[in-house]
Amino acid sequence: MVAVDGPSGSGKSTVSRRLAAALGAQYLDTGAMYRAVTWAALASSIDPQDAEAIAKVAGEIDLEVGTDPDAPYTRVDGTPVDRAIRGPEVTGAVSAVAAVPWVRQLLVAQQRKIIGAAARIVVEGRDIGTVVAPDADLKVYLTASAAARARRRSEEYAADLSATAADLDRRDRFDSTRSADPLQRATDAVVLDTTELGIDEVVARLRAMLDGRVSA
Ligand code: DC
Repeated sequence: MVAVDGPSGSGKSTVSRRLAAALGAQYLDTGAMYRAVTWAALASSIDPQDAEAIAKVAGEIDLEVGTDPDAPYTRVDGTPVDRAIRGPEVTGAVSAVAAVPWVRQLLVAQQRKIIGAAARIVVEGRDIGTVVAPDADLKVYLTASAAARARRRSEEYAADLSATAADLDRRDRFDSTRSADPLQRATDAVVLDTTELGIDEVVARLRAMLDGRVSA
C-alpha cells in the first residue's frame, strides 16, 4: 500500500494514478470523497459552516468510489458527481467540510475498509501516511513551489491563474492549520519536490523505491 500526501497541485493525483496503473494496483482519491460530501451538502442547500448539518449529510448519503486507476468514479446515492465535485462551488466549500471531525471519522473508516479489501492500492490525500494508513509500505509527500502548483491547478480546471493562486493559498493554509488531522508530512515519508521533476520521473523514482532498487 502506497500513501501519497501533499498540498493541492503538488502532482498527487497524476502521480498516484499513473503509479497505480503501472503497478496493476487500485487507486483511491480521498479528496474526491470530501468533495462528494460537500457536493451533497450544497445540493441540499446546507451551509458548509454548519458542522452539525454537514455531519448529518455525511452519515446519510451512500458514497461510492471506483478504484480502477484508468476509470475512477465517485457517486452519491447512485448519481455520478465526478464533474460537479471539481466545480468552483465545491472547491470553495470543501475545506470547511473536511475540517468537521465526524466527517473525517466516517470517511477515514470507509477509506480503511477499501484499503483493507485491496490487494495493492495507491491512496492519495492529506492524512494518509499520518492517520489513515500509518503502516503503509511506502509514504510519499509531494511538494512543489506555490507558483507551479497554481499553474497546474489553473490548467487542470481551466481557471484564472491569479484567482487559483489565491484560492490554493487560502485552502492550503486552512487544511494545514485545522485542528482535525491537518495536512502534515509523516516523519517517515519520502519527500519529492515536483517543481522541476517531471511526473514520469517521479513515478519512475517511486517504482524504483518499491522495487527496492533505491532505498526510501
Ligand atoms: O485533493 P483535493 O483538492 O481534491 O482535496 C479536497 C479537499 O479535501 C482539500 O481541501 C483537503 C481535503 N482533504 C482532506 O482533508 N483529507 C484528505 N485525505 C483528502 C482531502
